[in-house]
Amino acid sequence: MSKLENVKKLIAMREQARLGGGQKRIDSQHNKGKLTARERIHLLLDEGSFEEMDMFVTHRCVNFGMEKEHPLGDGVVVGQGTIDGRLVFVFAQDFTVFGGSLSETMSQKICHVMDKAMKMGAPIIGINDSGGARIQEGSNSLSGYAEIFERNILASGVVPQISLIFGPCAGGSVYSPALTDFIMMTDQNSYMFITGPKVVKSVTNEDVSVDDLGGAMVHATKSGVTHFRAATEEEGLALTRRLLSFLPSNNMQSAPEVPCTDPINRLVDELNEVVPDNPNKPYDMRNIITSIVDNGDILEVQPEYARNIICCFARFNGVTTGIIANEPQYLAGVLDCDASRKAARFVRFCDAFNIQILTLVDVPGFLPGTGQEYAGIITHGAKLMFAYGEATVPKVTVTIRKSYGGSHIVMSCKQLRGDFNYAWPSAEIAVMGASGAIEVLYGKELKAITDAEEKAKFIAEKEAEYREKFSNPYQAAGMGYIDDVIEPRNTRFRVIRAFESLRTKRLTNPKKKHSNIPL
Ligand code: HXC
Repeated sequence: MSKLENVKKLIAMREQARLGGGQKRIDSQHNKGKLTARERIHLLLDEGSFEEMDMFVTHRCVNFGMEKEHPLGDGVVVGQGTIDGRLVFVFAQDFTVFGGSLSETMSQKICHVMDKAMKMGAPIIGINDSGGARIQEGSNSLSGYAEIFERNILASGVVPQISLIFGPCAGGSVYSPALTDFIMMTDQNSYMFITGPKVVKSVTNEDVSVDDLGGAMVHATKSGVTHFRAATEEEGLALTRRLLSFLPSNNMQSAPEVPCTDPINRLVDELNEVVPDNPNKPYDMRNIITSIVDNGDILEVQPEYARNIICCFARFNGVTTGIIANEPQYLAGVLDCDASRKAARFVRFCDAFNIQILTLVDVPGFLPGTGQEYAGIITHGAKLMFAYGEATVPKVTVTIRKSYGGSHIVMSCKQLRGDFNYAWPSAEIAVMGASGAIEVLYGKELKAITDAEEKAKFIAEKEAEYREKFSNPYQAAGMGYIDDVIEPRNTRFRVIRAFESLRTKRLTNPKKKHSNIPL
C-alpha cells in the first residue's frame, strides 16, 4: 500500500469510527431528541480542542454473534480537550453502539481517561447514555464497572468529577455518577434508577412510570440525587461549562480568579431594613446573597431539593466562594435531615477543593418530631457539624437573624473554627426562641396561673425580658463568641475584607488515615 493509500485508509477508518453504530441509529438518536456522543462533546468543549483517544479500540466479545460486529471505538467516545482554555478529560457513552452498553473494552477506555485526568490534575466529565452492562459480556462487563467505580473513588477529592445523564442510566451503572461530585439530568430522556418499572412492579406491585421512578424532576426535588436539572442537553452542557468556571482543576490548585468589576466596598443600603420586625415573618435570603456577591451572580446547587437551605457558588472580589444559607421562606429555614445532608456534602466539596465558605445564618433549630428522629436527624445533623468542624478552608459566618441551640453550633460557629463570625444587629443568638424558653423556665408558674388574661400578660412580660437579654447579638458579642456586630449594608465589604485577610490561612487537621464522618 502506498503512503497516500495508507493515509486514505486512516481517514476512512476515522470516518467509520465517527459514524458509531451507523447513520440509521444516529437518526434514531436524533428522533428521540438526543444528540450523539460526539455532538455532545463538541458542544461541551472549546471549539476544535477535542483530541480523541482509543478511536480504534474494538470489543473482544465472541458470544451471541458479537464476533461479527466490531464497531470502531466500541460504545464510548473518550479524550481530552479544554473548557475556557483549561484541560479536561471527557467520556461520552455512544448509544448508537449496542445501546452504549458497557463492555470490557469500553471500561478500559473510560479508565484510560480517568487515569490521565488524575495524573494531569484535570476534571473528568462523563456523559452517560447507556443500557447498562453489556449483556453478551457477562462478568467482564461487571468487572469493567467496578474498575470505573474504584477510579471514581480514588479521584474523589483530587479532581472534580461531573456526570451528565443524557439517556438511560440504570442498574449498577448509576453508581459511577453517584460517586462523582455533581450530577446533571435533563427533563427529557434522562433517568436513573436501580431497577426499572417492570422489576418494581414484580417486587413491590407498584405501578410507576420511568419518569416518576427516576426522571430528572424526581431526582431534583425528592431524592436529591441530581444537583442540576436542565431543560435540554444544550442547556446542560452550557451549565457544565459554567459550573467548571467556579472550580479549580484539582485539589492542589485554587479556582481561577475572575477580574472583579463590582466595587468591593459597594454598600447595599436596603439590607439595613431587610429583616422584618416580626421574628416569624420570612424574607428572601436569595436576595441578600445576590446583593452582596460580585455582580449578583450565583450558581445554585440542588436548588429544588431541601429548599430550607441554599447552597451556591458565587464570587467575592473575583474569588470563588461556596455559600450556605438558611432560607426562612421555606420551613422557616429549619435544619432537617435533607438540608443537613445537602449542606454537609457541599461544605465537604468546598473544603476538598480549596473553596472558601461563607455561611449566612437564620436558623430556628432542628426540625422536631418522630418523622425526623426516625429518619436519623441526629446522624444527619452531625454530618453537617462534622463537615464544618473538619473544614480548613477560610470560613466566614454572618448571622442575619435566628441562631438557636444546636443549629447555632452547626452553622459554622466560632468554636467549629469559624475564622470571622459576624452578626447583624437583628441577630438572636440563644439556646432557643423566647416562647419555648419561657415555657421551660416558668412551667410551674404558668400552671399556677388560672386566669387566661393574667397568663398572657405574664408570658408577654417574661418573653420581653428574655428577648431583651438574648434576642440580640450582644450577649454573644460580649462573650467574644462573635467577632463583630456589623451594619448590614456593609456586609459585602466586611466579607471581602475578611476573606482577603484569610488568603494566607494555614490550618491542618491532626494526621490520621481518614476521619469517620457519621455517614
Ligand atoms: C447489550 C444492549 C443493551 C445491553 C441495549 N442494547 N441495552 N445491548 N447490552 N445492556 C442494545 C439493543 O439490543 C439495541 O440494539 C440497542 O442497544 C438499542 O436498544 P433499544 O432497546 O432498541 O433502545 P430503546 O428502545 O431506546 O431502549 C433503551 C433501554 C433498553 C431502555 C436501555 O435497551 C433496555 O432496557 N436495555 C436493557 C437494560 C438492562 O437491563 N441492562 C442491564 C442492567 S443490569 P440494536 O442492534 O437493535 O440497535 C446492569 C448491571 C450493572 O447494568 C452492574 C454494575 C455494577
